[in-house]
Amino acid sequence: MKKIEFTVLVLITFIIAAGAQQADNNSTCVVCHRDQDPPLSTPVEQLKTSIHNNPKLSCAGCHGGDPTAEDADMAMSKAKGFIGKPSPEQIPKLCSKCHSSAAFMRTFNPNVPVDQYQLYLASEHGILLKKGDKKVATCVSCHDVHDIKKANDPTSPVFPSNIADRCGKCHADADYMKGYSIPTDQLSEYKKSIHAKTLYDKGDLSAPTCNDCHGNHGAMPPGIASVANVCGACHLVQSEYFSASPHKEAFDNMGVSECEACHGNHAIQKTSDQMIGTDEQAVCTQCHDEGSQGYKTAALMRDGIDSLATEISLAEAMISKAHLAGVEIQDKALNLSKSKDALIQSRALIHTLSMDKVGGKIKQGLKAAINALEIGRQALKEVGHRRNMLIIMVVLTLLVAGFLVLYIRVRERNND
Ligand code: HEC
Ligand code: HEC
Ligand code: HEC
Ligand code: HEC
Ligand code: HEC
Ligand code: HEC
Ligand code: HEC
Ligand code: HEC
Ligand code: HEC
Repeated sequence: MKKIEFTVLVLITFIIAAGAQQADNNSTCVVCHRDQDPPLSTPVEQLKTSIHNNPKLSCAGCHGGDPTAEDADMAMSKAKGFIGKPSPEQIPKLCSKCHSSAAFMRTFNPNVPVDQYQLYLASEHGILLKKGDKKVATCVSCHDVHDIKKANDPTSPVFPSNIADRCGKCHADADYMKGYSIPTDQLSEYKKSIHAKTLYDKGDLSAPTCNDCHGNHGAMPPGIASVANVCGACHLVQSEYFSASPHKEAFDNMGVSECEACHGNHAIQKTSDQMIGTDEQAVCTQCHDEGSQGYKTAALMRDGIDSLATEISLAEAMISKAHLAGVEIQDKALNLSKSKDALIQSRALIHTLSMDKVGGKIKQGLKAAINALEIGRQALKEVGHRRNMLIIMVVLTLLVAGFLVLYIRVRERNND
């Protein structure tokens, strides 16, 4: 019985496997290349796990030739469009034969964009390739060749947590980039940033990596006057405040890169209140000398923020004291969250450069914090008051108890 079941199972497996073989056996390219030595056989293996593993695409889809001819010369004949191993200059066009055709791509997957070629041509990579530079990235430098995966497949080299290392394969290799005038520190700087920490340590895919700031296919430096737009895709509020502030025009005129002037580009760090004001760590003093309007405003903004932050921590301390003493503080905590919101908003409002706006928000926050502090103080006072009452009650109770004991003793003695 067992033996028969096993035989049936083996048979079924064999039939399925043969069927699968049939699917790509259609192409003589696969049949012949499978039996060659590497590297001639490697593409057959690699294609098995690729998004292109589809009999309709297959080897001839990219290389041309006649996938029905069994004879090598016939199959790989130039007359049948065989191009052999494509050179870097040929690759973007080759991939785009399909990828730029909305009509063709729709028959497989209507959701795949078809703009890669146009964007690539406009990128620094595409521009230099056209001039004959073969060291720039082409489609296969970022996507691999025969084992191309969907972009949202975590094992794809263009997946958010993999792409920086892929760009870095060239951009962080000083030898490879010798002869170009650009630095090779983008990857190492990026890895130190709050963005990389958020992406790698927290696994938060909403943090930007190389292609979020430079484009998937249009890799270009954003240009000093459009950095705010790049960052603004995620930091909308700061970007709007900045763009409406006097810094926007002043920076563009000076040729200073928008957000970058204060935050950097690749190694952007978590911010702190130390960044504003007139101390050594403050960014404002890079450009504003003592006595200037910018200097004065920087100092005022820092004072305002410091005083709100101090008031909030005092109120917090008071409230936690009250809490330890057992007083309910829900309402008061609500007040404090109002002033914490005000602190967050005034940090963002710095980007407007308007002391009126920052000052107004700080005033709101201070009002709420002082209110919370007062309520906390009252609560503690009440606790103190209650404690005193308790002591008096205990003393009174003891006195009464003592008196009763005495009274009972006297009664008993009298009875005796
Ligand atoms: C009968 C066997 C056979 C068939 C069929 C065959 N090839 Fe080849 N292919 C070879 C051999 C052997 C080589 C290496 C020698 C040479 O370049 O001719 C090769 C080389 C290649 C190369 C590398 C060329 C280069 O310039 O380095 C590519 C690409 C290629 N084949 C693709 C295909 C495609 C696509 C098909 C189907 C349309 C196909 N082959 C059909 C045997 C075959
Ligand atoms: C998505 C397009 C695509 C498909 C599908 C594809 N190739 Fe290629 N193939 C390329 C490109 C592009 C190169 C050049 C890679 C490079 O420059 O490193 C290449 C290179 C090769 C080479 C040369 C390898 C070497 O290291 O010299 C061979 C052989 C080859 N392909 C065979 C095949 C076979 C066989 C198949 C089908 C099993 C196939 N290719 C499917 C795009 C493709
Ligand atoms: C013969 C047509 C054809 C050629 C040539 C071709 N592709 Fe594709 N490619 C497709 C089709 C069709 C799909 C969509 C398959 C699907 O989603 O089922 C695809 C999918 C992809 C995807 C995954 C897209 C996603 O959804 O994330 C990438 C990446 C890709 N191709 C890159 C390339 C590169 C790079 C080349 C050149 C080396 C290339 N393709 C050449 C037809 C082609
Ligand atoms: C400099 C690296 C790089 C180059 C060069 C490159 N790609 Fe991409 N490609 C990416 C990244 C990064 C993504 C998107 C990842 C994501 O969506 O998160 C992507 C996504 C894709 C997709 C999925 C659909 C989409 O547009 O998001 C296709 C298809 C694709 N690329 C094809 C190509 C083709 C064809 C070429 C050559 C003309 C090419 N790529 C060149 C990095 C590159
Ligand atoms: C195959 C190697 C290679 C890969 C992979 C690669 N690049 Fe490049 N890239 C280059 C070369 C070479 C240049 C030309 C340097 C120059 O412009 O002077 C360049 C230029 C650039 C430039 C223009 C720099 C300037 O100021 O001129 C940007 C931006 C850029 N790459 C971003 C990226 C990003 C982002 C990725 C990954 C998504 C990437 N590159 C992947 C090789 C590569
Ligand atoms: C948060 C956005 C952001 C991220 C992430 C980012 N860049 Fe940049 N990158 C910029 C800005 C802004 C510039 C400067 C542009 C300017 O001043 O015109 C720049 C400049 C460049 C340049 C031009 C040369 C230079 O260093 O000034 C290259 C090349 C480059 N980046 C590659 C990369 C690579 C590779 C990665 C990933 C490891 C990456 N970038 C990640 C924003 C970013
Ligand atoms: C794809 C979205 C995205 C882009 C583009 C982006 N960021 Fe971020 N940024 C984030 C995320 C996510 C965090 C980390 C978590 C947080 O603070 O919300 C972050 C954090 C920051 C921080 C630290 C905030 C703090 O709490 O101290 C600064 C500063 C910053 N980014 C500036 C920039 C600048 C400047 C640019 C453009 C050069 C930029 N970002 C581009 C998403 C982005
Ligand atoms: C003139 C210098 C300057 C410029 C230009 C600038 N920032 Fe800021 N940014 C600051 C300072 C200072 C802080 C810290 C405020 C604090 O914590 O008290 C900050 C804080 C931030 C934060 C942290 C979140 C927050 O609001 O507390 C983000 C995100 C941010 N900036 C993004 C941007 C973006 C995006 C741009 C460009 C549109 C930009 N910044 C331009 C000085 C600047
Ligand atoms: C890269 C140089 C640079 C940095 C850094 C910088 N500023 Fe400015 N700022 C300017 C320039 C240029 C102007 C245009 C007016 C001028 O020349 O004072 C300006 C204008 C201003 C103004 C408007 C002054 C007026 O006359 O109305 C204020 C306020 C200001 N900055 C505050 C700040 C604060 C606060 C910081 C730090 C968070 C800061 N700036 C950082 C260059 C800079």
